[in-house]
Amino acid sequence: MRVLVTGGVGFIGSHLVRALVSRGFRVRVLDDLSRGSLDSLRPVLDVVEFVRGDVRDSFAVSSSVRGVDVVVHLAALTDAFESIVDPLLYESVNVRGTVNICAASKNVSVLVFASSAAVYGEPERLPVGEDHPLNPVNPYGASKVAGEAYVKAYSRVNGYRPVILRIFNAYGPGQTRSYAGVVEEFKRRIKAGKPLVIYGDGLQTRDFIHVSDVVEAIVKAVEVEEARGVYNIGSGRAVTVRELAELMARIAGRTVEVKHVEPRPGDIRMSQADIAKAERELKFKPRIELEEGLRKLLEQDNDI
Ligand SMILES: NC(=O)c1ccc[n+]([C@@H]2O[C@H](COP(=O)([O-])OP(=O)(O)OC[C@H]3O[C@@H](n4cnc5c(N)ncnc54)[C@H](O)[C@@H]3O)[C@@H](O)[C@H]2O)c1
Repeated sequence: MRVLVTGGVGFIGSHLVRALVSRGFRVRVLDDLSRGSLDSLRPVLDVVEFVRGDVRDSFAVSSSVRGVDVVVHLAALTDAFESIVDPLLYESVNVRGTVNICAASKNVSVLVFASSAAVYGEPERLPVGEDHPLNPVNPYGASKVAGEAYVKAYSRVNGYRPVILRIFNAYGPGQTRSYAGVVEEFKRRIKAGKPLVIYGDGLQTRDFIHVSDVVEAIVKAVEVEEARGVYNIGSGRAVTVRELAELMARIAGRTVEVKHVEPRPGDIRMSQADIAKAERELKFKPRIELEEGLRKLLEQDNDI
């Protein structure tokens, strides 16, 4: 089976591409390298077809989609705070880029779209199920709501099976970008012996999911033929940012100073996925416990 992975050089994309190659898929990657480097694909570059191109360029998109059976659309700009500063950039990459992908996916059997927990905004109830109202609080979240609408609408036009994965806070090796960067940021600060900066009181919760579990969910979305529609992809567990700081400091065996600063405007307070639907229909089961995932991440650095 031939798979196009857009954004395949990025954090989730590079893990996915390596997993797909090891499972025998033929993989093409479309990425403009604006937020990533080909180094992330180094181990598989000789077996992956890499196309440097922009998802806003309809010609690059239609030639990349040609001949593939499956599209996994990950390419996006992902920083909620940057999206407030430059909303039109986010609209062009995340919305128009997605429209291009959907419109070009005429002879594709499955289109998997990486959406985000950001579509929910501040939850009215926890855990958040897929039927929760969509109330994004920043242009990034709004761009994902729009992307979802196009993925669904074009499934009627082009006949592909749409699978929309609302990913919560992914973490793991290779994360360099700022979205959900709290784990990476804490790791860097612990390593540098600097205080951990917490926005607000630290009692805000997040649902952290290891990148290899996200990859597993994407593979299931492709392989489970009955899978269709929207699925939350998280661990199903809520952890406060303060607990995260304490856990990471304990694993690293360090006493770590914590510095509280003003809360960031637009930061949501609570987040926790209801993953029952993904468990039931995708047969998705997160495997890596947070403590284990953090331990592996911190152990990668020899000096901790
Ligand atoms: N990481 C998370 O916690 C998380 C959570 C929710 C949703 N998501 C979604 O998952 C997807 C992947 O996220 P990630 O964390 O791997 O992000 P990332 O920034 O690491 O990867 C995105 C990739 O897209 C590429 N890209 C950006 N603009 C492009 C363009 N115009 N044309 C072609 N390629 C372009 C970048 O170069 C990069 O390689 C995104 O759609 C993101 O919104 C991620």
